[in-house]
Amino acid sequence: MKKIVLHSILIISLIVSASNAFAQYTNLWIPDTIAGTQFNLTIKDTFAQLRPGNQTITGAVNNSQFWGPTLIFNQGDTVHIWIKNTLNDSTTIHWHGLHLPAVMDGGPHQVIPPGTIWQPYWKVTNNASTYWYHPHLHNMTLNHITKGIGGFIIVRDAVEAALLLPRKYGIDDIPLALTSRGYTSANVFTITNGTTISEYGDYALANGTPKAQITLPKQMVRFRILNAEIERGYNLGFSDNRTFYVIGNDGGLLNAPVPLTRVKLMVGERVEILVNLGTNNVGDTLNMRAFNSGQVFGFPGAEPQQSGINGSLLNNKDFTVLHIIVGATTTNPITAVPATLANNTYWTAADATVNRTITVTPGSGVGLSEFYFNNANFNMTTINQTVNLNDIEKWTITNSNIFSHAFHIHDVQFKIVSRSSGTVAAYESGWKDVLYLPKGESATFVAKFADYSDAIHPFMYHCHFSNHEDGGMMGQFVVTGSMVGVQEQAGQPKDFTLYPNPANGKLFISFDDPTMVAYYIKVFDAVGRNVYMLPRPELQNGIDISSLRAGVYTLQLTDDKTKVVTTKKFIKE
Ligand code: C2O
Ligand code: CU
Ligand code: CU
Repeated sequence: MKKIVLHSILIISLIVSASNAFAQYTNLWIPDTIAGTQFNLTIKDTFAQLRPGNQTITGAVNNSQFWGPTLIFNQGDTVHIWIKNTLNDSTTIHWHGLHLPAVMDGGPHQVIPPGTIWQPYWKVTNNASTYWYHPHLHNMTLNHITKGIGGFIIVRDAVEAALLLPRKYGIDDIPLALTSRGYTSANVFTITNGTTISEYGDYALANGTPKAQITLPKQMVRFRILNAEIERGYNLGFSDNRTFYVIGNDGGLLNAPVPLTRVKLMVGERVEILVNLGTNNVGDTLNMRAFNSGQVFGFPGAEPQQSGINGSLLNNKDFTVLHIIVGATTTNPITAVPATLANNTYWTAADATVNRTITVTPGSGVGLSEFYFNNANFNMTTINQTVNLNDIEKWTITNSNIFSHAFHIHDVQFKIVSRSSGTVAAYESGWKDVLYLPKGESATFVAKFADYSDAIHPFMYHCHFSNHEDGGMMGQFVVTGSMVGVQEQAGQPKDFTLYPNPANGKLFISFDDPTMVAYYIKVFDAVGRNVYMLPRPELQNGIDISSLRAGVYTLQLTDDKTKVVTTKKFIKE
């Protein structure tokens, strides 16, 4: 008798714990934050329990199981990043939306081999807004983003800080990365298992949380929403059709809040919104939903198919992305939407001195190559556009093709000045780095290509659907013209001497010509493995080699003026 009772208690508790683990909703995971000026990131393979059964093989950054920490930058600071790639593959990490030197950009040319540490740094000049970081290795972007590698970047500045806006991270200021995944019966992501390729996931994930829920205070709440999908677009709103307020686009605050009941968000785009829960009662529930049913064909995810390459269980459906429970009001709640936000001065079409046209054209049709730009497959060694430093340019992106896309450009934030479909909507009137390019339309933006020129490392422009990007729907541009004091010169670089200092674990470089600047330093171990990559290294304090094992290493230095590469050996004791 006793045994039977114990058994049934065991069975009941098993049922209870199983239903806890896979209850109707799971608490939304809020990424940790890292603030300051030094950011240490480790990219890794890991596992996440995303559904009953096997754990799913994922990728993540630092302690996360999917996705990574939120980096908080202050405008004006110089941020130093230390990234170690512990994957078995090469990858890159791109700082989406940030204005920085091309050699620090983390595009397909800034490859981080397995085991290597990459140390980019730059001065943060972007406006306060929500940005993100993600892998960008050509032909591997779909795979590495699908695994979950990525994270948010929040930039803060004085303009934003002076406004009465919700700013309690994870409490009334919620980062929300929306995506979806499909699974094999063994719970492997279908996109990355190499056989079942689908552009769309079948199950929604918010910050990597399936069926996410959050308790939010009864007051004004801010969401920083990122479409972190492979291809799907979102037509977002709330289950009770309440009005919310768009306060920011990709690259900063709007001039004034824009009231809406639905907002479209395409892959790579961010939108910051305010929603008033102050009129709710504690205990009320509502859902943030993708109202994706009934979209015209061409809207990514409007396809009728439920399976196959274009199919998914979420296609052409309305579905919940976040379940919200209204909780108690916090201390010092924000209760109102500010009447005005930033005072942006945008470029206009009349400011542009150069016009370019980029046309969406059919791809080869082989593999992922469904679409190209200007009839050309992406080629790592072809520079498609050359831009003069400080020029203001007008780019028209034309899409008379059969599907819609999300056009993204690196280096700049742009202003959409016109759309062939009519006026530019108020909700996308701010600084942007991705634009929705519906089927059969063209869109024109204006941007200034300031501050950073580099004849060697290009910036990218591409469709942000990773499958289209990997399929070759990408081009690259270099910004040429000299930055102050830096000029390309012919001739031989001056020589230099290496002084490894065992006492402090540092390597010092002494140039024969003190005006010499290092463009790039790479350190290789005795078997030729790249262990350090230092773009435009700051050498005054030496290079920290304390983590290197004792042995013989090769340092490869690219001189900034001539781009000539010189190698020297040193011994780490
Ligand atoms: Cu978000 Cu070129 O990428
Ligand atoms: Cu980007
Ligand atoms: Cu596309």
